[in-house]
Amino acid sequence: MDSKINKLNERIALAHLGGGQKRIDKQHAKKKLTARERIAYLLDEGSFEETGLLVTHRTTDFNMEKEVYYGDGVVTGYGTIRDRLVYVYAQDFTVFGGSLSETHAEKICKIMDMALKVGAPIIGLNDSGGARIQEGVRSLGGYADIFYRNVQASGMVPQISAIMGPCAGGAVYSPAMTDFTIMVEQTSYMFVTGPNVVKTVTNEEVSSEALGGAHTHASKSGVAHKTAANDVECLEAIKTLLGYLPQNNRETTKLLDTTFNDEVRDVLTNSIPDNPNKPYDMHSVISGIIDVDSFYEIHKDYAENIIVGFARLGGRSIGIIANQPMVLAGVLDVNSSKKAARFTRFCDCFNIPLLVLVDVPGFLPGTDQEWQGIIVHGAKLLYALSEATVPRVTVITRKAYGGAYDVMNSKHIGADMNFAWPTAEIAVMGAKGASEIIFKKDIAEAKDPAKKLVEKETEYAEKFANPYRAASRGFIDEIILPKDTRRKLIKAFAMLENKEVNRPKRKHGNIPL
Ligand code: COA
Repeated sequence: MDSKINKLNERIALAHLGGGQKRIDKQHAKKKLTARERIAYLLDEGSFEETGLLVTHRTTDFNMEKEVYYGDGVVTGYGTIRDRLVYVYAQDFTVFGGSLSETHAEKICKIMDMALKVGAPIIGLNDSGGARIQEGVRSLGGYADIFYRNVQASGMVPQISAIMGPCAGGAVYSPAMTDFTIMVEQTSYMFVTGPNVVKTVTNEEVSSEALGGAHTHASKSGVAHKTAANDVECLEAIKTLLGYLPQNNRETTKLLDTTFNDEVRDVLTNSIPDNPNKPYDMHSVISGIIDVDSFYEIHKDYAENIIVGFARLGGRSIGIIANQPMVLAGVLDVNSSKKAARFTRFCDCFNIPLLVLVDVPGFLPGTDQEWQGIIVHGAKLLYALSEATVPRVTVITRKAYGGAYDVMNSKHIGADMNFAWPTAEIAVMGAKGASEIIFKKDIAEAKDPAKKLVEKETEYAEKFANPYRAASRGFIDEIILPKDTRRKLIKAFAMLENKEVNRPKRKHGNIPL
């Protein structure tokens, strides 16, 4: 018996060593943790149960049968994070550069299938040189098996990808189809084709970092939802994120106990400047409303004219979408529409109520936006909000102009409760622009056109630059004092808790992509 136990222990020890101590040291020298260290940090202590520890590849080409490692470059299994079940895989860069073989893919698929059956989040820690070059198309098939499962799992269980090393070629498409991608600064990159191919095809000289590093994807492309300074921060970010999410699409998030539910927040009273053209930071409105320090921002550095993220409100997990007057006056453009639409759909998949804070002067004009297709991209947000069946509450803090008023969770597209602050201006456009159009003749014929314009502007503003017309039609349910916002919202979301919407059966809608 002893010899048999020793045999098993030897294999386990070998498996734990991955590609060997030398390669582990190399990994550490790059300031990266190993796959096992990452899992140990991510999961509750002692909770990890591994699957497929002794799996090996089946390749015999290029003398590969002589180089076999237990686990085949990926550690897979399940465990808990803050006592909640998760499935996890971590690619082991010390084994063939974490490259994906047929068996490596099978291990990942196995836990994905299990996660879907059980209904628990899937977390992928990516660190890989891509397809196992020695295996050719079998490895590509393995990728596709994962992609297919990413799609089946989409909207059923949360899927989170951490990019903690290389992620290139086909490998990028699994993270792209998951719900959130977090990249580690300096040590990770993602691209479809690397700098060498780029140089050959387009003659552009670009570094890996500039082409597909964390900063690039967090600010320019929007591929990354978040960045982290190092592995530990990245794993912490995953743990925190999970705290806002349910286990699957059949659950809602837990309502945490709080003792400060009904408090009035005077700090909100002066959050809007007297001058309607002066910007202010919508982050301070958000923090004035939500539970202290509970905002978890998504896409912080991308399309900053809109803010999206999770928060707790009276202990309830909510998603927030808010125009940001500090950036481009908070206009809607191509990127901000896509950002908010994607976030809306995530929240709707997973029963997370939505709060929309509105201060929007309209859509961004110009050839650049029109030629990029703002019509279709703006429609994404309109569509996503219109189809969302989770509780939806709106607060208009200041401007709600034109088509953007409709888009930003108006009553007309299915919002449940619509509030406005007394500072709200709900109109087709700003008073100046409006007066120049509708009083064009009066102004042109006036002795003093400039004076006439000011007169007409004031007249228009008095009529429309307020929330009262909208309230008189019932488009606004209540005009509230800023300091009462938190209280009103907590009550509204509690009232909407059991909201149910039954839509007629259809295969799926056709969101403008
Ligand atoms: N298939 C098989 N083995 C791979 C591999 C792959 N796709 N990518 C890396 N490896 C192996 C290397 O041969 C090396 O093996 P060794 O430890 O026995 O020497 C080990 O992984 C580490 O790779 P190395 O190149 O030394 O690491 P690096 O940090 O300098 O570079 C990459 C990392 C990913 C940039 C580089 O390995 C690379 O370009 N890989 C190929 C990427 C690719 O084209 N993939 C296929 C298309 S999806």
